[in-house]
This record gives sequence, C-alpha cells and structure tokens, in this order.
Amino acid sequence: SPPLSTFGAGKVILLGEHSVVYGHPALAGPLSQGVKARGVPARKCQLTLPATMSRAQRAQLTGAFLRAAKLVGEPPVKVSLDPELPLSAGLGSSAAVSVACARMLLCAAGREPTPKEAGRLAWEMEQEFHGTPSGVDHTTSAHEQLLLYRRAPGSSDVGRGKVVDSPRPLRVVVALAGERSPTKKTVGALRERQARWPERYQRLFAQMGKLASEGARAVEAGDLEGLGDAMNVNQGLLAALGLSSPALEEMVYRLRGLGALGAKLTGAGGDGGAVVGLFLEPEPAVDQLTRLGVRCFSSQLAGPRAT
Ligand code: MEV
Repeated sequence: SPPLSTFGAGKVILLGEHSVVYGHPALAGPLSQGVKARGVPARKCQLTLPATMSRAQRAQLTGAFLRAAKLVGEPPVKVSLDPELPLSAGLGSSAAVSVACARMLLCAAGREPTPKEAGRLAWEMEQEFHGTPSGVDHTTSAHEQLLLYRRAPGSSDVGRGKVVDSPRPLRVVVALAGERSPTKKTVGALRERQARWPERYQRLFAQMGKLASEGARAVEAGDLEGLGDAMNVNQGLLAALGLSSPALEEMVYRLRGLGALGAKLTGAGGDGGAVVGLFLEPEPAVDQLTRLGVRCFSSQLAGPRAT
C-alpha cells in the first residue's frame, strides 16, 4: 500500500492559558503550520526520529507513541515526523505531534481518524508529555477550528470545545521572544503560588475565564477591536500572575506598535516563548519583524479565507 501522510496543527491560545488548567474557558485556534507524519508499511509498529533530537526527547516521544499504538493494536507501520513548527515554543508542537501520530495510527489500523477519535488517542500521548494538561492544545489541533474550550470538571478526562464562528478573517502574527521555559515548570510554579494564596489567584483566573467568554462573543459579532482589547487585558493579568518577562513584554509592545489590535504572550509564558498579535493585515508586520531578525510568521485562525 502507498505511504500514508497525516497532519497535526499547532495552536495559539488567544485568551485563557493557565486559567484553563483551573477549569475556566479558553479561546484557542489552529495554526496552518503544524507537524506532518509519514507512514510506510513495516513489520512492526515503530517511530523513527531525527538524530538531531536529544536522547531524552526521543525517549519521551517514543514512550508516548507506543502508549497510543498499544491502544489501536500496534498496526504494522513505520512512522516518521516532519515538524514545520518550532518545537517547544508554546505553539502546541507536542499536541501537533500527538495528533499527527494518532491520525496515522488510526489510519494504519483501518479506522476513521475523526477529530473525536484522533483527539482521544492524542490525549493519551499528551499525558506522557505534560503530566496534567488541560487538553486545550490537542483538542484544538484535532478539531482544527477556533474553540472555546473548557476542561471536564473534577476529572482527569479531556474537556469539550465549542466551535466559535467568525464572520471576519481572524489573522494573527506569532513571534518568538527570549529563552523558552518548560511548560511543566511554569505550570508547577504557578500551582505553588495559587496553593499559598488561593483566593487572590482564583480571582485572577476567574477574570481570565470571563475575558475568554467575552472574546468568543466578540469574535462571533465580528468585533475584532473588542477581541484585541480582551487580549491586552489578558496580558496584564498574565503579568500579574508572574508569567511574563522583559523579553515577552518587549515583543508584546513591538506588536502593538506595529498595529496589533491586541497582543499577548501565548502558551505557558515564563522567561520567553511565543507572543501573538491580532492584525487586520499581518504581512507588513511580519516583513518588518523579519528584517529585524525576529522569528515570526502569520496565520489565519478562523473566518472566511481569500481564495
Ligand atoms: C499550554 O499551551 C497552555 C497551558 O494552559 C497549559 C495547559 O492548558 O495544559 C499553560
């Protein structure tokens, strides 16, 4: 049989990272950039990884892959990965890998790779990467739609995403800034602070959840200015939670200076990582930033596409 090819999209969180871990809604959309998986028939089910990856990274990925493979009867396929997304930048690369592999394993097992099935299998892989992820990353990647996502209350089960329709193109610039901190570390440090001062932190999480719901309504009403303002306020709250840094703040202000309707860190934050800006016209900003040596790209998360 011919080689199989599958894809897992990266994601950006527009509103509500971190508070989503504590049960509040988050607004997240798929990137057109992601991770491709290629599969060829083989004697046993296996994953081949580039030698450029660290031994620890390869061990973790292989462990996650085999965990998912067992659940679909270890179909005889040799899988390789082709990431077109910066890995470990807070853009959902691990979820993209998980979704690409899950779709591949389902296809190889002769099963339909529906968003639900692929999402469920990718969730198994995500456990190996993160410990206790909210599920927003791989759910957004598996559905490839703008979602208002909420984790399942009081359980380790995956949550639910409600599709948010946008009458207008929702276009963003994603730029990388500073040295990235591991998500596990950022999430863990925040957990300690919130355990020590629960009411203070719960108040901020609730505010962030409200912004995500309001942002989803703004999207549906075509009010991109309203969405942008919610993103700016969300950035202030993320800074209040101790999740921003000088490098991230500088990039946020740069994007606003280039005309972003709103800009904030996206993903886990920490010392560095990814910043997202909402733009009516992203191209001039990408050109300008690229000239200055910033790693960046644009993507459309939702809404009608120019053909
Ligand atoms: C990471 O993309 C988003 C976080 O909210 C963690 C999670 O949701 O599991 C920081």
